[in-house]
Amino acid sequence: MSATDDKKLLQKRAAAATALTLVRPGEIIGIGSGSTVAEFIRLLAPLAPQIPGVVVASSASEKLALAASLRVFSLNDVAPPVLYFDGADEIDPRFCMIKGGGAALTREKVIASASGRFICMVDESKLVAELGAFALPVEVIPMAMRFVMSKLKLLGGTPRLRGDSLTDNGNLLIDVSGLNYSNPEALEREVNSIPGVVCNGVFALRRADELIIAGDTVRHLRAPVSQWK
Ligand code: A5P
Repeated sequence: MSATDDKKLLQKRAAAATALTLVRPGEIIGIGSGSTVAEFIRLLAPLAPQIPGVVVASSASEKLALAASLRVFSLNDVAPPVLYFDGADEIDPRFCMIKGGGAALTREKVIASASGRFICMVDESKLVAELGAFALPVEVIPMAMRFVMSKLKLLGGTPRLRGDSLTDNGNLLIDVSGLNYSNPEALEREVNSIPGVVCNGVFALRRADELIIAGDTVRHLRAPVSQWK
């Protein structure tokens, strides 16, 4: 691991440690996926006896949660979580995000949308003035792959199929670069409207409510800002 990766990992751990202070005994919590979430789940382990359990967005997070002695529930079997904790691939000052680098975007968006508050945890490399340097992950049903790619090209994007591996839902992922993010909500709706698309990684209609950013220090922003300082 490079020195930069080491530093990022420490920052993710620091963001996760601050997020942990928001966990309240007795509440089921929603948890996303990714390397910051992995740190969060490890730190959550000692609190396992104090919370009923967790709802998680990926099989990877489920494995980590079970290893941390946390009970894992289906979203169908419990009341919606009050708090949802997750990372992001990019986040803008309005707290709109691109997510799905780890392929878990659909379940992340479902649990985030069901939950009361979305607490996003990032290292400072994830802050952007405008979304779009990170290619947009789009989950599609396999038989629609070519059709969806042609529609994404018409939107001005350059789509690329992400290998042969399937998501936890048995679908394919397309990563799209070159899209226009001047109106992230409109882009999210437009990509969702292509038949065959299950979900896309723009999180603008369900943005984060709070943001924990770890750089040299850890900042906890409870509302969007006009620009990053
Ligand atoms: C998973 O599909 C993604 O949406 C993750 O939430 C995101 O990739 C998290 O990034 P980190 O691995 O840097 O936490």
